[in-house]
Amino acid sequence: MSFSQKYHPLLTVDKDTGEQESLQCRDPRKRRSLLVIAVIIIMFTSLPFVHMIRSRGFWGACHGSQRNSSTLAKLPSHYTLPSGDNIPSVALGVWQAGKGEVGNAVKTALTAGYRHIDGAWIYCNEEEVGQALKTSSIPCEELWLTSKLWNTFHAPEDIETALDQSLSMLGTNYLDLYLIHWGSYSPTCASCLFRTRPVAFKTCTTILDGDLTADPYPTWQKLEELVDKGKIRYIVISNFNTRRIKNLTANNLKYQPAVNQVELNFWNPQPELLKLSKENGLLLEAYSPLGSDKQVGKSLSVPEVKSITSKLRITPAQVIISWSIQRSTIVLPKSITPSRITENLEVFELPQEDFERLEKAATSHTPQRVVNLSAGWKLPFDVFDGQ
Ligand code: A2P
Repeated sequence: MSFSQKYHPLLTVDKDTGEQESLQCRDPRKRRSLLVIAVIIIMFTSLPFVHMIRSRGFWGACHGSQRNSSTLAKLPSHYTLPSGDNIPSVALGVWQAGKGEVGNAVKTALTAGYRHIDGAWIYCNEEEVGQALKTSSIPCEELWLTSKLWNTFHAPEDIETALDQSLSMLGTNYLDLYLIHWGSYSPTCASCLFRTRPVAFKTCTTILDGDLTADPYPTWQKLEELVDKGKIRYIVISNFNTRRIKNLTANNLKYQPAVNQVELNFWNPQPELLKLSKENGLLLEAYSPLGSDKQVGKSLSVPEVKSITSKLRITPAQVIISWSIQRSTIVLPKSITPSRITENLEVFELPQEDFERLEKAATSHTPQRVVNLSAGWKLPFDVFDGQ
């Protein structure tokens, strides 16, 4: 008995011609019915395989186990701004990267392929960031450098001096992004000897500048001048809620804000702000994407994050960073650990069902900010009021 006869009982050999026939029955009507039955049987028996291949990917199906990162599509490494410039989707965040560690973090990041560094004057580490940049041979034009105008310098007459100080510490002639910032008082920084408050603050005093807080247009106009001088490429807003964005953009701006940097993570996903920003062509940057030092452990242990991690065989941080990019935001993970810095740049497209599962989990609980300094600053209002 041939192999085909033994293993394919529907195959037979024509006695006269010796040719194989596909069916034992010679009656054409019966043959057709048998053919239909055979097709139905094949369809039903193959359905579970089709389903498995669709849900796990071909690699998973072939190996009877889960998919690994080598089969996942990479996510876009850049976003295109309305100007046509391409801005990297992942930046190294250096908030809370201390002296003696931030320089190495920047060097590691540049070697790993980062081309976007998110810093600020108030982080009190710009000098060390600048020294690390100097040791790299990467041309300025390939880098995206961010700094932030601290609250104390919002008065138009103070802005250029503050910017020049950051430029000099970073060792550059211009910044790619310069943000209107607000942040925390840092007692360890020699140049921050005055107590600071969020939003606009009168120079070297502790008095909240009510006018500039209510209307940041004079600050914006001065920043526009500095764009024209070539010291800033993009003016950016930070921690602006919808009300503050509308308040600012109601003015006749020469340069529109292209980016808004806000806290975005599993605990505070801000779906409404994200939707509105997308509709208005405003790119969001996610600070504290992993939940910052305080909440990172909790973020990495979210059940949905853990289950996607083991399904896709990528790390929990990669799941969260990938999700953030799939939400169309720039992500600013902070790390001073070389292996994590490298890991955080490796982003993969989560299958739609996993992305949606994580999005649903993030937007189903009561939002909880990881970073809210209003109480600590004893402000008469909540900085994020109305967000
Ligand atoms: P470290 O800097 O010691 O590496 P966020 O980006 O939300 O501000 O979170 C920063 C915190 O997350 C830091 O404590 C940082 O630790 C930690 N972190 C950064 N990347 C990873 C990672 N891939 N895995 C685990 N923890 C990480």
